[in-house]
Amino acid sequence: MTESPLSPVQEIVQGLLQATARIAPKYFYDAAGSALFEDITRLPEYYPTRTERQIMAAHGADIARRLGPGASVIELGAGSCEKARELCQLIAPSHFVAVDISSEFLHDAVAQLRVALPGVEVRALAADLTTDFTLPQDLPRQRRLVFYPGSSIGNFDPAQALQLLARMRGLIEDDGALLIGVDLTKEVAVLEAAYDDAAGVTAAFNLNVLRHINRLIDSDFDLSQWRHCAFFNATDSRIEMHLQACVETVVRWPGGERGFAKGERIHTENSYKYRMEDFVQLLNQAGFAQTEVWSDDRSWFALFLARP
Ligand code: AVI
Repeated sequence: MTESPLSPVQEIVQGLLQATARIAPKYFYDAAGSALFEDITRLPEYYPTRTERQIMAAHGADIARRLGPGASVIELGAGSCEKARELCQLIAPSHFVAVDISSEFLHDAVAQLRVALPGVEVRALAADLTTDFTLPQDLPRQRRLVFYPGSSIGNFDPAQALQLLARMRGLIEDDGALLIGVDLTKEVAVLEAAYDDAAGVTAAFNLNVLRHINRLIDSDFDLSQWRHCAFFNATDSRIEMHLQACVETVVRWPGGERGFAKGERIHTENSYKYRMEDFVQLLNQAGFAQTEVWSDDRSWFALFLARP
């Protein structure tokens, strides 16, 4: 996680000029990228969303019983708020705050949520989770539940994930909790298909980041010169996504340029896959001493309820 004082333009340029060029995955999520990600969650190969939903359907009532009504739910990376709706229907919170980097997408989702959840004080907060952000002043401090579904924690390397979990701990008091979805290690073929689907939706999602970068830094990436590439790195237990140059090319932006050889890659995302015991250890290190976990029949995905 970068606590960087750099502006987005500086951060992007710095990434492109690294020996192995990289673009931070948060730049996937312009309006088009957020919509493509929603399409990914419905793909037959992309099991995480579906599996997490199955776990919620099977164990949501049990989780809700442990939490009790009247909490304040803070969902990080809320996106379409679809999961929040289900959770809120189960636990009947007093307040719900949706935090997401994509403000356009968020405001529509929150407007729909207000209609679906009368009686819940619903707010939207456009913020980058990798920087310090401030919750609404009048949000009760007691009985806060931080909800971070979808295994987005996997998009941070373990050291950054630890920092982010510690920040979540800082958002709650001792009577609060964290409910977090985590994707687990499994057969490589299953993992790789989930990030390189037959319909090419993940490829379109990955390539769209270049369109977004072109807008942000006024660069001239030609999307037809790049291809999607995804594989499992067993050493680091992570799916890696890259964009690979199909031809030798030079990308220019005001004040700079970067040449790419044919076959050279830009690293766009990591998606770490955890063993349950390793994630429990990470939670403990972040200040969550008590953990409970629910999983599916195949142990592909896990929902952790963690308390200080
Ligand atoms: C948001 N995040 C959990 C997704 C993942 O599975 O790592 C992003 C994604 N990238 C490609 N497909 C989905």
